Amino acid sequence: MTTLHHFIPLASDRLDLVPLQLADARFILELLNSPGWLAFIGDRKVHTLSDAEAYVRRIQDLKTAWYWVAHSKTEQEAVGVVTVLQRDYLAHPDVGFAFLPQYQGKGLALDATLTVLHHVKAEGVSTIGAITLPHNTASLRLLEKAGFVKHRVFVHEAEELVELQKVL
Ligand SMILES: CC(C)(COP(=O)(O)OP(=O)(O)OC[C@H]1O[C@@H](n2cnc3c(N)ncnc32)[C@H](O)[C@@H]1OP(=O)(O)O)[C@@H](O)C(=O)NCCC(=O)NCCS
Repeated sequence: MTTLHHFIPLASDRLDLVPLQLADARFILELLNSPGWLAFIGDRKVHTLSDAEAYVRRIQDLKTAWYWVAHSKTEQEAVGVVTVLQRDYLAHPDVGFAFLPQYQGKGLALDATLTVLHHVKAEGVSTIGAITLPHNTASLRLLEKAGFVKHRVFVHEAEELVELQKVL
């Protein structure tokens, strides 16, 4: 298992990336019920603030998840998340991302992803993966801009997924 020894706050010119905290529960409630999350990631059935707090606690307890919340420096608002997860069915840790609809189309998700990749490389991760539904064109576009290449198409829990990889 890959271990990120330094799961720490990160920053770019436009964003602060802060490890997920309980205080993010209201933002998480909004993000997990946003149309893009529901369509391309799935329904986590997080409907109330207390559901969102339980979700945050579950993630904080995982030893295999690094989950940053991106805050816009100009607006001082939580705008999206970038995650690095070690899944038991993939060889390499994989990066994921989701941004609120009003903060998409601004290059913020790519900025946040590149910032996280830079950090995980410094932490010794040599290859990073990403998985996405084949019709998630926004996600595929971002991953290609970040230098990922398609590795394979596979089926997981009856769903066809594209796995991409990037050598860091
Ligand atoms: C996947 C997702 C994070 C991509 O977000 P995004 O905002 O489209 O991605 P980027 O940060 O790369 O922004 C790209 C867009 O910003 C535009 N842009 C504007 N200003 C920019 C800047 N300064 N720098 C870079 N791009 C900029 C680009 O031209 C591009 O526009 P286009 O989509 O019309 O080509 C977003 O669609 C999302 O949250 N989806 C729902 C969750 C999801 O599917 N997650 C992935 C699961 S695998």
